Amino acid sequence: MLDLLAAGDALTGPELASKLGISRAAVWKQIETWRRAGLGIDSGAHGYRLAHPLEPLDADRIRADLPAAVRHRIGVLENHWRLDSTSSELARRAADLPDLSLVFADWQQAGRGRRGRQWLSPPAVNLQFSCLKRFAGGYAALSGLSLATGVATAQALEDCGVRGAALKWPNDLVHQDAKLGGILVELGGEFMGPCHAIVGVGINLRLSDALRAALDRPCTDLARLCGGVPPSRHRLATALIVRLVEALDAFDASGFAAFTQAWAERDALAGRRVRVEGAHATFDGTATGVDARGALRVRTREGMRAIDSAEITVRPG
Ligand code: BTN
Repeated sequence: MLDLLAAGDALTGPELASKLGISRAAVWKQIETWRRAGLGIDSGAHGYRLAHPLEPLDADRIRADLPAAVRHRIGVLENHWRLDSTSSELARRAADLPDLSLVFADWQQAGRGRRGRQWLSPPAVNLQFSCLKRFAGGYAALSGLSLATGVATAQALEDCGVRGAALKWPNDLVHQDAKLGGILVELGGEFMGPCHAIVGVGINLRLSDALRAALDRPCTDLARLCGGVPPSRHRLATALIVRLVEALDAFDASGFAAFTQAWAERDALAGRRVRVEGAHATFDGTATGVDARGALRVRTREGMRAIDSAEITVRPG
């Protein structure tokens, strides 16, 4: 059904039913299923029409659009119409795939966020992908990797003409405190030896009203930041790969220290009152940037603290 509607043409219930060889009731049920999955589908006298045409990804086209140096540097580059999660797919195949392998999915049915949350996204609208990166060192050298990925993601958006995206420690992409995207870094391999990171990135290009209402925090999308027309999924995918490969190589060579300035330029929390909810304590303070390891610096009445892991909320005022 989505193939028939993808280009943005209107089709009536009876037209869809006859083309698909199913009943009109089955058409209606399927339309409701896609709406629940987050697709905007208008209905009226004209029939059913997608609120916006879909742009399924073509991995060959993305590969061809990459600069030659990046094209030769990456491992596999795949797009799947449907996966549970691009990060889960890379985790299953990590032992067999070359360094810098990239897996995209038009539709993730079990997308994962930080702290056990779900990552919800309709089919062929937003961008979700993961990248496998191998490191010789061990986990200790990888603190700050999700922040470095955030910098690369923000730079890729800027390359595509998006203005106003900022970074909320540790790994949210935001615009005016509404979430625009997120990063999930998962580590595997040896704790003190050769290991790998699976870097997952999800960016909202368009959120339907229904999906926005279902999300547990204020969220926004690139369409809103770009006057209604987000960058094309292919253009953004290409820009993201270029910036991510560059960032992962720089991180491998120099760690997060190479990114502190670029982070500071996009820091959504700097100078703001925040609540820090850690595993053992909750306290308030003022965010004052990140250190060379990527820890969040928070000024409190008791002095400066460096936070490695916590949930941060911005306090009013
Ligand atoms: C967060 O903000 O909680 C992190 C969200 C990360 C979502 C991306 S989408 C691609 C990759 N696959 C997943 O299942 N999750 C990450």
